[in-house]
Amino acid sequence: MPEDAWAELADAFVDGAYATVKGRVRTHVLHRQLLDHLPPPPAAVLDVGGGAGHQSLPLARLGYEVTIVDSSPEMLARAAARVAAEPAEVRRGVRLVEGPGERADVLTAGRRFAAVLCHGVLMYLDDPRPMVAAVCRCVAPGGVVSIMALNARTLAVRPALEGRWADALAAFDAGSEVGVLGAPTRGDTVDGLTELLRANAVHAEAWYGVWLFSDWSTLPDDTDAAAVAEVELRAAAQDPYRALSRVFHLVGRLGP
Ligand SMILES: C[S@@+](CC[C@H](N)C(=O)[O-])C[C@H]1O[C@@H](n2cnc3c(N)ncnc32)[C@H](O)[C@@H]1O
Repeated sequence: MPEDAWAELADAFVDGAYATVKGRVRTHVLHRQLLDHLPPPPAAVLDVGGGAGHQSLPLARLGYEVTIVDSSPEMLARAAARVAAEPAEVRRGVRLVEGPGERADVLTAGRRFAAVLCHGVLMYLDDPRPMVAAVCRCVAPGGVVSIMALNARTLAVRPALEGRWADALAAFDAGSEVGVLGAPTRGDTVDGLTELLRANAVHAEAWYGVWLFSDWSTLPDDTDAAAVAEVELRAAAQDPYRALSRVFHLVGRLGP
């Protein structure tokens, strides 16, 4: 692996995935789900593996105090550029820290945050345990842990819809896949991560899907992303739809 593995993926992720209707829907759905659990601003939010800040910058705009920890200098450079385009009051509320999320507590000097996000990161790690433990060490008593992970239970859907039938068949027994950015990704389950959180004294309080309809279809650029997001929000919160999402959003809380 190159030193900054994300240097190669940054363009595809920041300018590609997030620039699409689907990318905007993902941000919006996760944001709305999160707001149901977060205390009001200006609570302190730590975004571990926060990348270019797509999920935490909207929180900074609402007045949250945001710290992004990421191991990729390239992704943090993207975050810095995006933050620089914000008004002064938003810029003042964002801090960028380079380093491994597994050491987020050390990198933030043992500070405890009202919420710790870890979205779209575990899927790139062979073993989720050190990262989940670090995330949980950073949360304040009564605070929120928000994890978005690849759903190991739905790995057959994408190859099947792409007509890759041999891959789809193999995916029923697989725990990983080559992800949409072309990098290997590993799936988790809601039950597995719920257990892992519990082992770190964090109790799951809700889980959601993120996308369903927009993920499995190609949406034209002029699609009304807000209208799609309203549909996805409903689907993401109820069975059986949420269980079919390619990714899931698990929210936990550290006991008081
Ligand atoms: C798919 S991006 C997600 C970015 C952001 N969380 C979001 O939802 O937009 C994955 C990010 O995780 C970061 N990352 C991967 N492994 C990491 C690690 N061990 N420690 C810190 N960051 C990591 C990458 O550099 C990249 O910015």
